[in-house]
Amino acid sequence: MAEIISGKVISAAVKERIAAEVAELKAKGVTPGLAVIIVGTDPASQVYVGSKERTCIELGMYSEKYELPESTTNEELLALVERLNKDDKIHGILCQLPLPRHLDEKAVIDAIDPKKDVDAFHVQNVGKIMIGDYDFLPCTPAGIMEMLKFSNIDPQGKHCVVIGRSNIVGKPMAMLMLHANATVTICHSKTQNLKELCREADILVAAVGRAKFVTADMVKEGAVVIDVGMNRDENGKLCGDVDYQNVEPLCSAITPVPGGVGPMTIAMLMQNTLTSAKRCLK
Ligand code: GUN
Repeated sequence: MAEIISGKVISAAVKERIAAEVAELKAKGVTPGLAVIIVGTDPASQVYVGSKERTCIELGMYSEKYELPESTTNEELLALVERLNKDDKIHGILCQLPLPRHLDEKAVIDAIDPKKDVDAFHVQNVGKIMIGDYDFLPCTPAGIMEMLKFSNIDPQGKHCVVIGRSNIVGKPMAMLMLHANATVTICHSKTQNLKELCREADILVAAVGRAKFVTADMVKEGAVVIDVGMNRDENGKLCGDVDYQNVEPLCSAITPVPGGVGPMTIAMLMQNTLTSAKRCLK
């Protein structure tokens, strides 16, 4: 039986610590504030954004949500970002991705003040991640590292295989693992011998975006399996990138979906907003 690494339990502990720090900061006159922007009506994005807003309020932070219509122009979106960049109540700005196709994602990310870029998507922050000089840790990979730490799993010297090379998860995940002294392999849709490579992993991180992509024959006995996916199976039920039912008996530890990586991502976003607000004291 694998150890179930519960993002629900671990994020609750992280959030408790953050709430205490928020209270301290508020006593000194600074309330951490997060602005979340969502454009259009993508149902999954709406769920994520709702969760981010609720968590902000739960932790005593200030929250602003901007729900913009699908017809929003690049100019309008950039004008909002510029206004939030200058707003002293706001310490973190997040624009939920993906944006509708007519909008320029890169231009929006570039426009966010790197000091308020709590997603750590701005090139300046991405560059800092590369050299291990973090202002903001990228939320999903940071959440995964926190889960491993909490579960006493040390990546040092281990072979970590990351499936997926997105800017949001795969690439920064590989960097954080490398900084934790793991030996890292990044796999993607063009990788040859994917199954064999995955079977060599001591720590396997699945960030593919395809339901039950990681099957039992891709996992080494005793491996730690981290599932970043959030998909629907053939019956419309929420599931990850890992065929949990068949993989779980093989591994030493595994994250469930839901209740795994998802809640950790949000907790880390709150951490970044707090970190940004703390700068106001200096
Ligand atoms: N879409 C999916 N994950 C994320 C995330 O972590 N941040 C933003 N801004 N958009 C996302």
